[in-house]
Amino acid sequence: MLNASRLSISLDRDGEEPIYKQLIRHVKAQIDSGNLPPGTRLPASRDLAQQLNISRISVVNAYAELRAEGFLSAHAGRGTFIAGPEGANSSASTVSNGNGNSAHVIETPTTPDRSIREMMRMARKPGIISFAQGSPPSDFFPVSQLREAMNAVFDRDGANALNYEVTEGYPPLRNAVREYVSALGIRCRADQILITGGTQQALDMVVQALLSEGDVLVTENPTYLGMIDIARTRRVQLHGIAMDEDGIRLDMLENYILDNHPKLLYVTPTFHNPTGVVMPLHRRRQLLNLAADYRLTVLEDGVYHELRFEGEPLPPLKALDENSVVIHASGFTKMMLPGIRIGYLICDNQHYERLVRVKQAADISTPALNQRAIHLMLERGTMAPQLERNNRELKRRRDVALACAARYLPPGTTWNVPQGGLYLWAQFPKNGPTAAEVYITTVNMGAAYAIGSVFYASTCGGHRFRLNYGAQKPADIEEGFKRIGRAWREVAYDYDELEKAPLL
Ligand SMILES: Cc1ncc(COP(=O)(O)O)c(C=O)c1O
Repeated sequence: MLNASRLSISLDRDGEEPIYKQLIRHVKAQIDSGNLPPGTRLPASRDLAQQLNISRISVVNAYAELRAEGFLSAHAGRGTFIAGPEGANSSASTVSNGNGNSAHVIETPTTPDRSIREMMRMARKPGIISFAQGSPPSDFFPVSQLREAMNAVFDRDGANALNYEVTEGYPPLRNAVREYVSALGIRCRADQILITGGTQQALDMVVQALLSEGDVLVTENPTYLGMIDIARTRRVQLHGIAMDEDGIRLDMLENYILDNHPKLLYVTPTFHNPTGVVMPLHRRRQLLNLAADYRLTVLEDGVYHELRFEGEPLPPLKALDENSVVIHASGFTKMMLPGIRIGYLICDNQHYERLVRVKQAADISTPALNQRAIHLMLERGTMAPQLERNNRELKRRRDVALACAARYLPPGTTWNVPQGGLYLWAQFPKNGPTAAEVYITTVNMGAAYAIGSVFYASTCGGHRFRLNYGAQKPADIEEGFKRIGRAWREVAYDYDELEKAPLL
């Protein structure tokens, strides 16, 4: 057997072309020139990475791509080989992007900004069963109810529905939101409510209003990727505090506060994204006491709060907020209408005026038509039964996902059992490939997940991945999980320290 234990490859580290692509080009050129004849065994990814002084993921991704195009073949327990002439472009079970080249690939897990963009793009390729996105499925959207509400708004308000709205929000909607959140235990006045362009804008506005460039935003670690994006674009530093099964670690938070006196903490106490963790009542109270003691403002993200299909609901932090330390952000997006972009902030007077000015500067007002339609839907009571239906279906999909995780994900994989929200937070066995290393092969096999490391403020979470089980119908959950399991096994061939599991 031919053995290319050392490949002669020179890489341009400062060039535009990603390293893994250069590697693909070199291997193809050497196949063409006859330097690497069929049957040649390639070095294990770890060895080649060491030899070339590049990250292992670059090699793993290059091999995955070459395998998908049929230039390489992998054999359980034996390694990776140059395929015979019939191999090239004949891998029927893979999905490619049409030009046989996966465009950009996650280069290293330490560059989350770039990798997430590339990841999202790849997950959108046709034919991919994607669990990567953060959105609810489109079959949860109440299309006909929204159409009726919009028509009724036009009949009633005519052109007024197309004018600017007052910056604070359409007054009847602010009243309806006040009533809506009072059912969750939040007592406030309508003039403490500010309507925003989704929860995302609400979070961004609070960061803008309370922090200056260079200030620190404290978050759970991991945290919502959109908040990491906000911190980057607003040039504030992120400091992530570790979590346990009850949410943010208060001992670590207190130590950090004592040394650094941060102004703002961002938390998602119910169905945290990505971990699904729900903070129990005692921790909620302790957190609020801590925040009051140190005059720390808590930005609470409640966007998943109502997506509960099991267990007893807990009060949002804002409902327990006796010392006015909490700013509450949420919206009608995750539960059913992401594209209508109606969110809200609830806060006390000290922040309200400043937030209105930030909103005014950002976009003058949230679209009047959307605000009025949501107001009508709340008034007509069409949201509650839709939410119930959605949550029933979410539970069904959660159950399917749990059964499929047990059946198809590699042995040693762990995951949470969520009582609500959209996500399974899973971890591949730590002695095998990372989630980023398995990703390209997964996409080539026609499935996608969100790579866990992108949710961390610092580099970690390598084996973790997030699966939006709510996004897919049960049959697709089964097929998608099967593909992820298969992809892991293919990549794991390269890890000699693992016991090789049979292909499914
Ligand atoms: C925790 C969290 N907050 C906020 C958002 C943004 O929500 P919206 O669509 O309301 O802007 C998301 C979306 O993924 C999220 O996961």
